[in-house]
Amino acid sequence: MAPLLRLLLLASSMVAVASAGSFYDDILISWGDGRGKIHDGGHLLTLSLDKYSGSGFESKYEYLFGKIDMAIKLVLGNSAGTVTTFYLTSEDGPTHDEIDFEFLGNSSGDPYTLQTNVFTQGKGNREMQFKLWFDPSKHFHNYSIIWNPRHIIFMVDGIPIRDFQNLEARGVAFPNKQALKMKSSLWAAEDWATRGGQVKTDWSKAPFVASFRSFNADACVVGSAKRRCHAAKDGWWREELDSESHAKMMWVQKNHMIYNYCADVNRFPGGWPPECSVA
Ligand SMILES: *[C@@H]1O[C@H](CO)[C@@H](O)[C@H](O)[C@H]1NC(C)=O
Ligand SMILES: *[C@@H]1O[C@H](CO)[C@@H](O)[C@H](O)[C@H]1NC(C)=O
Repeated sequence: MAPLLRLLLLASSMVAVASAGSFYDDILISWGDGRGKIHDGGHLLTLSLDKYSGSGFESKYEYLFGKIDMAIKLVLGNSAGTVTTFYLTSEDGPTHDEIDFEFLGNSSGDPYTLQTNVFTQGKGNREMQFKLWFDPSKHFHNYSIIWNPRHIIFMVDGIPIRDFQNLEARGVAFPNKQALKMKSSLWAAEDWATRGGQVKTDWSKAPFVASFRSFNADACVVGSAKRRCHAAKDGWWREELDSESHAKMMWVQKNHMIYNYCADVNRFPGGWPPECSVA
């Protein structure tokens, strides 16, 4: 089926939903055998990780475009080898789409790395990494993904850190053909997370705990027939960076970005990914 036709068909079965408030309404604890818990009448969720397992949760609904927010407080203290994630993903498979925030833990006192990535039609390798301008384990901070037909904007406390543009016209696939779920997890990735596996997880500090609240999906929910998504097509649907927010993003990328795949000269001997020559 032609992509545009598929998109139109999907659009006609979508409903705009702004959900806020209780985790009971919006998410399911999906794995971890009791290590993920909802507290405080649905306002707080904690994931924990020990030697035997991590844990995770996911949205009950699937989205095709939206603004998805989560406030997260990361594992405090020695978090080396732990990875906390907040991402949107389609089902696994050769054409899967994914939009990632991944927080790589560190030894006590050393900064976390925030890694972002975008997979489109199964192709990833688009990592950009940042050191945050605050300690993300001390307080809750807001992490948002604005995903509309033209942009994927990653934001931290309302400040854009990355803008992945729709460059389908130049042959770069964009996630707009399949619905994505929000997923979040806390797991052990000792082999790569902390300095490529050189720093091991200190299991005597387990369980490691990350906290979540204020999940909000102002999004087009796939599979519901109540109201068309067009109702919500102001705000995030048209959002792009104006000159002020673009300047903020440039500040972050200049001062806080520690890795950019588009600047990794040894990585792509066969030529740069096409999106790299645009930015
Ligand atoms: C995060 O967003 C919520 C809801 O919009 C707001 O109440 C809270 O103050 C924000 N927190 C931070 C750290 O920006
Ligand atoms: C951990 O801290 C060290 C020292 O500041 C830093 O080089 C490294 O990039 C940090 N992040 C990770 C994930 O190891």
